[in-house]
Amino acid sequence: MDTDALPALRLRAVRKRFPGSEADAVQALDLDVPRGSIVSLIGPSGCGKTTTLRMINRLIEPTGGRIELEGTDVSDVPATELRRGIGYVIQQVGLFPHRTIGANIGTVPRALGWAKARIAERTEELSDLVGLERVMLDRYPDELSGGQQQRVGVARALAADPPVLLMDEPFGAVDPIVRTRLQSELLDLQERVKKTIVLVTHDLDEAIRLSDRIALLNVGGVIEQYASPDELLRAPANDFVAEFVGDDRSMRRLTLATVGDLPFERGPVVDVAANDLEAQKIMAAHRSDWVGLTEGETFLGWIDGHELGSGRTLNELPRFMPAAQVTPAQSLRAALEVIMTSRTSVAVINDAGRFRGVVTLEQIRAGLAGDLAEQAA
Ligand SMILES: Nc1ncnc2c1ncn2[C@@H]1O[C@H](COP(=O)(O)OP(=O)(O)O)[C@@H](O)[C@H]1O
Ligand SMILES: [Mg+2]
Repeated sequence: MDTDALPALRLRAVRKRFPGSEADAVQALDLDVPRGSIVSLIGPSGCGKTTTLRMINRLIEPTGGRIELEGTDVSDVPATELRRGIGYVIQQVGLFPHRTIGANIGTVPRALGWAKARIAERTEELSDLVGLERVMLDRYPDELSGGQQQRVGVARALAADPPVLLMDEPFGAVDPIVRTRLQSELLDLQERVKKTIVLVTHDLDEAIRLSDRIALLNVGGVIEQYASPDELLRAPANDFVAEFVGDDRSMRRLTLATVGDLPFERGPVVDVAANDLEAQKIMAAHRSDWVGLTEGETFLGWIDGHELGSGRTLNELPRFMPAAQVTPAQSLRAALEVIMTSRTSVAVINDAGRFRGVVTLEQIRAGLAGDLAEQAA
């Protein structure tokens, strides 16, 4: 069997009706979560996000349907054993107040009967991994800030190296600055640990930033769209999705996509040793009044096309340094900002001092018209 094609998590017709309730909290949910990806469940309050997450680790037993973890029906696995293989991070963190941070992180390894030395080693490794100073390990939860407690929650969830991590509004209780930092740390962490992560959030920006795919749920756990962040913003499946993502979705895509995602070009540039004719040809091909000069991998500046033909070499003409410069890793929003606040409609793309090409307003607009992830691929 091709195990790579098998999703880490597969939900089929999963249903939950709480006792005494008139309606299903989750009606009939189908969802595949690819291995090593971050999938966000997002949607209005009460739409069944938490219920869905808690059915995966059987903190809530489904009323119907089937949930498979790596092809195994989770109802065939004893609940405690199942939960040791699934990390769980919640907003309230839920640290044991009378245990040190170290003891909190070591909860699952201890339950698994690991030797003391191995637990101590793992605990230190994890505190490094989540960016927690080791001196914190001997402290108690109430001596830590909200952000630090959240890091402990992540470290504890990762302790026994589970393949799957469930996170329920993990950054909901911290202030926006700390939240942004924790989000970046999660992305860095994911680069290294490559877990399968299901993240519940009600924050669209968070979902866009962190997810490989987003499942937008409606009341009753009904999936309105399951797509990449860029696709969700570019092509909302229906009015519900369109309204949820808002009418500034192009701006959100600009934040999400980078200059490197665009099929950018070298632009109207010639080597500084070129002659006037070559410069003129390049300008004509790009319908540009300006031409950029390069020397090796360095962009030297722009020259005005009207200066050509005066008998001077390109190197002798007055040169204007590129006012607008970006790197491939910068967002399209940053590129747009640079273009808007300079006199040109072109930004030069430099990567570690090397000239890569130019990006124009028109290219950004054209990029937004298509599938940005596809274009880069
Ligand atoms: N233990 C419970 N008993 C009865 N109803 C519940 C229980 N937990 C959740 N619900 C109901 O199920 C629906 C989905 O809740 P929940 O999954 O917590 O939503 P979300 O996490 O998307 O805000 C809501 O209508 C909620 O009131
Ligand atoms: Mg919830």
